[in-house]
Amino acid sequence: MRGEILHFHFSSAPDGNLLTEQGEGMRKPVGIIGGGNMGEALIAGIIQSGLLSPEEILFFEPRMDRRDYLRGKYQALSAKGNVDLVARSPIVILAVKPQSVPEVLPEICASIRKDHLLISICAGVPLHYLQSFCPFPVRMIRAMPNIPALIQKGATALAPSPHAQAEDLSTAEAIFQAIGITVIVKESLMDAVTGLSGSGPAYVFAVIEALTVGGVKEGLSQEAALALTTQTVLGAAHLIQSTGKHPATLRDQVCTPGGTTISGLYAMEEGGFKLALMNAVIAATQRCKELGEGLKRTVSTPPANRTKRGRGKKTFRKTK
Ligand SMILES: NC(=O)c1ccc[n+]([C@@H]2O[C@H](COP(=O)([O-])OP(=O)(O)OC[C@H]3O[C@@H](n4cnc5c(N)ncnc54)[C@H](OP(=O)(O)O)[C@@H]3O)[C@@H](O)[C@H]2O)c1
Repeated sequence: MRGEILHFHFSSAPDGNLLTEQGEGMRKPVGIIGGGNMGEALIAGIIQSGLLSPEEILFFEPRMDRRDYLRGKYQALSAKGNVDLVARSPIVILAVKPQSVPEVLPEICASIRKDHLLISICAGVPLHYLQSFCPFPVRMIRAMPNIPALIQKGATALAPSPHAQAEDLSTAEAIFQAIGITVIVKESLMDAVTGLSGSGPAYVFAVIEALTVGGVKEGLSQEAALALTTQTVLGAAHLIQSTGKHPATLRDQVCTPGGTTISGLYAMEEGGFKLALMNAVIAATQRCKELGEGLKRTVSTPPANRTKRGRGKKTFRKTK
């Protein structure tokens, strides 16, 4: 994908000053539709980074207990509904599940204006599909964050729509740098982003799990093996970021000829480790493409003011 990435930026969240300046110039409030995992990650990151204050964030979430939880924990403002939220927020972030998009878009379009910026984080939902609901060309950014955004360690790719302006991209960068790093790509690469960094945390969880089991097999306690593995992955990733060296260069540096590490790497090659990970990215990218192609321009019945979750079992839900 080299050459296709248009821009790459590490988060400025740790020091906060730059984000605060960006927040001062930002149109407010920022409206977030959907207060689930990602909606909460955005609220938390935007506030904790100092980009915006709680009263500069407006959200809507249909489930009352969840609304109360978000209001109580972050002091962010809750809108009466999606129409109200869009009418009051010049910047709107769509953070509902892809299957909820057909019911939410007509509500957005009921009060959207030409100066609105619509940012969608919905996996596999193309910009042209969102545009097909709207009465005029809308300034839009498609974003694909990932789950470490929950702890402001996310990786987000951003793709602008043809009608997005330069300031829209800067706004989106400031928002997503509050929850990690950002990369700007062409929209045609968003499925690949989903297959790589969107789904990537699950691959890394699997790697950590497998290494841990290996340690346990060799006699380490579960606790010690997991702690050692997690810190090893964290440290190795930090080393790549801080040195800027290619992983293959770093790998060569730790392989003594005839030593232990090269024996381990040889065993990994025999097991097809690298090919398995490459295939994981390719398979997930393909699946994302299929889901995008399967989207139909249909409008379902809008939800009532829900009291129970509308879907199956969730993971990563923060309740405290
Ligand atoms: N989680 C990830 O790792 C990840 C990574 C990248 C991108 N994304 C994208 O982020 C989006 C949100 O994912 P998520 O994990 O945050 O899902 P989630 O936890 O299910 O959050 C979605 C929230 O939207 C609410 N909602 C449903 N219908 C709504 C409506 N009509 N108006 C306003 N809110 C409504 C849901 O409420 P109910 O619970 O009552 O239905 C739920 O709280 C998805 O499109 C996903 O593709 C997620």
